[in-house]
Amino acid sequence: MIASKSVISDGKGNISVETVQVGPPGAGEVLVKIVAAGLCHTDWDSIQNWNKAFIVGHEGAGIVEAVGEGVTGINKGDKVILNWAIPCGECFQCREGNLHICEVNSPVCGCGLDGHAHIESSKRADKPIERSFHLGTLSEYTVVKKEAVVVINSDIPYSSASIVGCGVMTGWGSAVNAAKVDAGSSACIIGCGGVGLNCIQGAKHSGAAIIIAIDINDERLEQAKQFGATHGIIAEKDDVDFANVAEKVREICGGRSADYAFECTAIPALGSAPLALVRSAGTAVQVSGIEQRIDFNCELFEWDKIYINPLYGMCNPERDFTKLLRLYDTGALKLDELVTKTYSLEDIATGLDDLINGRVAKGVVMMPGYDKASN
Ligand SMILES: NC(=O)c1ccc[n+]([C@@H]2O[C@H](COP(=O)([O-])OP(=O)(O)OC[C@H]3O[C@@H](n4cnc5c(N)ncnc54)[C@H](O)[C@@H]3O)[C@@H](O)[C@H]2O)c1
Ligand SMILES: [Zn+2]
Ligand SMILES: [Zn+2]
Repeated sequence: MIASKSVISDGKGNISVETVQVGPPGAGEVLVKIVAAGLCHTDWDSIQNWNKAFIVGHEGAGIVEAVGEGVTGINKGDKVILNWAIPCGECFQCREGNLHICEVNSPVCGCGLDGHAHIESSKRADKPIERSFHLGTLSEYTVVKKEAVVVINSDIPYSSASIVGCGVMTGWGSAVNAAKVDAGSSACIIGCGGVGLNCIQGAKHSGAAIIIAIDINDERLEQAKQFGATHGIIAEKDDVDFANVAEKVREICGGRSADYAFECTAIPALGSAPLALVRSAGTAVQVSGIEQRIDFNCELFEWDKIYINPLYGMCNPERDFTKLLRLYDTGALKLDELVTKTYSLEDIATGLDDLINGRVAKGVVMMPGYDKASN
């Protein structure tokens, strides 16, 4: 086994940097040397709420160190992005083409540890320890199922590649795969953090002509404009049901509400906000995955509106990561610009503090020996 410095949480709000033992990969598994790991708001939630010990992190990129029996098409030395929606390829949803909600392997569809590499592949003080989203990327090494890696062929720095596997995919895919934004349309993005900025990029790629960024933070709106927003609206926390924002959206869109609106904050009170911003027969998208009970006026649905809550931008990992990397390589997708700050593993507390206080678009942890430019 290999010694691997890792961020461990007790799921009760505490974290520590400890050395765990990792490897070797079992049949159908891959040992990856992580180079960079992105921080997502969901990491913060997991540290506060999961109430069990685990290795933190679900965004990452690295180098294949070894492959287990029966693994083909993935070789030692390959550059890979990790993916937490791990398709089995055979269940009902995988066969329907919904690889992101695999009924066997998905860590968020109530499927237990089936998508996890064999549990003894990571040990803390001789006892097996679970990995967040079956990946646990805040760790120098990880063992994952082969379906959890996508081999890439690009000079992209690992820091920029590391964020593709959650924040970028979720935002971009919600616009492109889920809402299928039309060319020439209007779209509102509520919350312009790591996910929302990529929703803006997705709407832009789809040809939306009016892209309205909405946030409580001025800096976020400025940044949103660099990623493709054509307008910005500052939201006020006491604007119940987004009535004031809705008025401004109608003005910008020439008297009628927007064609699409995307909620990217995970604030339960904003669950109805995208409905308030779209016209009749428009599409409201809850990108963030709110899970609390919320009450709202059904008049907001009038009339013929569609409200969807896609998971992970309806990710098909091989197809979408390949497209995203191509767009990056041709300069059409901004990823380097999203990585506002990098941290060492020991700096993890600062990284999380910057994340929850909105000081960064995306923060990325670089493993020992690597920096932001490493590719
Ligand atoms: N369901 C999924 O597939 C999935 C995947 C990734 C992330 N998420 C969730 O999406 C959410 C966003 O993630 P992130 O990494 O972008 O977080 P983030 O903290 O980077 O961004 C949140 C943004 O919302 C803004 N905001 C806060 N209150 C607001 C308000 N009242 N009105 C308008 N804007 C407001 C903040 O200023 C910030 O810019 C998280 O809660 C995360 O857990 C869900
Ligand atoms: Zn995430
Ligand atoms: Zn499946």
